[in-house]
Amino acid sequence: MKLRKVKSLRGTLTVPADKSISHRSIMFGAISQGITTIKNFLRADDCMSTLHAFEALGVPITVDKDNISITGVGVNGLKAVAEGIIDVGNSGTTIRLLSGILAATNFTTVLTGDASLKKRPMDRIASPLEQMQVQVTGQKEQVLPPIEVVGNPELKPITYVMPVASAQVKSAILFAALAAKGKTTIIEKEISRNHTEEMIQQFGGKIQRQDKMIQLTGPQQLTARQVIVPGDISSAAFFLAAGALVPNSKIILKNVGINSTRTGIIDVLKAMGASLTITEVDHKNQSATLTIESSNLKAVTVSGDLIPRLIDEIPIIALLATQAAGITVIKNAEELKVKETNRIDATAEELQKMNARIETTEDGMIIYGKTTLHGAKVSSRKDHRIGMMLQIAALICQEETILENAEAISISYPNFFTDLDHLTKGES
Ligand code: S3P
Repeated sequence: MKLRKVKSLRGTLTVPADKSISHRSIMFGAISQGITTIKNFLRADDCMSTLHAFEALGVPITVDKDNISITGVGVNGLKAVAEGIIDVGNSGTTIRLLSGILAATNFTTVLTGDASLKKRPMDRIASPLEQMQVQVTGQKEQVLPPIEVVGNPELKPITYVMPVASAQVKSAILFAALAAKGKTTIIEKEISRNHTEEMIQQFGGKIQRQDKMIQLTGPQQLTARQVIVPGDISSAAFFLAAGALVPNSKIILKNVGINSTRTGIIDVLKAMGASLTITEVDHKNQSATLTIESSNLKAVTVSGDLIPRLIDEIPIIALLATQAAGITVIKNAEELKVKETNRIDATAEELQKMNARIETTEDGMIIYGKTTLHGAKVSSRKDHRIGMMLQIAALICQEETILENAEAISISYPNFFTDLDHLTKGES
């Protein structure tokens, strides 16, 4: 795909629905009692993988123009898939959270995915689930997919100190804990996105949190409800960056999710000196309108407990840093190495092709600012967020950029290029 520089970006967008909440809305709907309706479900490849997985497990799901509705069957009502195998494509969230749900079934399921997913470590869920008496086996020491989950209706509760800050791992344990008899305690390494905890409560369950400690006593039967999915701040992040970087721009993003475990990008943009305002805050729905205008940026340090609050935004933050005054340091972000690609290497190497000055470190990057980027032949490496970051980078390059594997962007943002086109034309 050929990409060109733009003069300005102006207009209003409603970014696509939140990916994390969309996945979970299907999962909670499936294991609850009653009919769950989902408004504004993200119909992108990753969330469709979750939807199809639960259909395969015998959950009645209707998809119409506006809504998705799920007739909950409870964990006990899930049925073994006919061929015994579910393919979840590129979706790490599906494989990890689904493993936690399958943990309590009385059957065995094999979960597999695409080439990228087959490189992602599942030992991080296998180990706590094994302590709960569920057998999870996979390839090599890291328990790579395909994995086999041997369900056990007699799950044991555990106390688990998390070695990584990961909402996917935490959520897998919480789903299993909902079915285990007794109290499960999780101590997080850093607080990660809390959608699972919030949705357990919204579906009528009980869960307690005290700082980094979460406790849940099972078994619990959840009750269906309506879910309205807000826009995804991780998708909005690409246009927030574009608005800050492209001269003469003003972009208004409506209905963006602002759950505080996800808003690290807002904190970083503000610290960099971006012109960003937050209006129309809807506390009930945890959403707001974000308006960004072009501005001069300065370097920042991104580390510690901020990392899980912006883990998916680091590639786009790296691009922002190439244009900021000073040297930006990103550290404590080793988790990036086990995303859809090794995002430390992918970000640095692809942006280096465009003349960026980035040094990779064990747990992050050092990025030199005020560098003129040049158009080049680059690749998403089949990672949606690397693809979108490179498209935004191309908007500020004089020369043409060729983006290979651009189609990966549909994993989370199927209308990305249409939305960008709309802003390029200055439509509101
Ligand atoms: C997600 C959690 C994060 C994030 C991913 C979605 C989730 O992964 O990177 O895109 O929905 O729970 P980790 O929990 O592995 O950090």
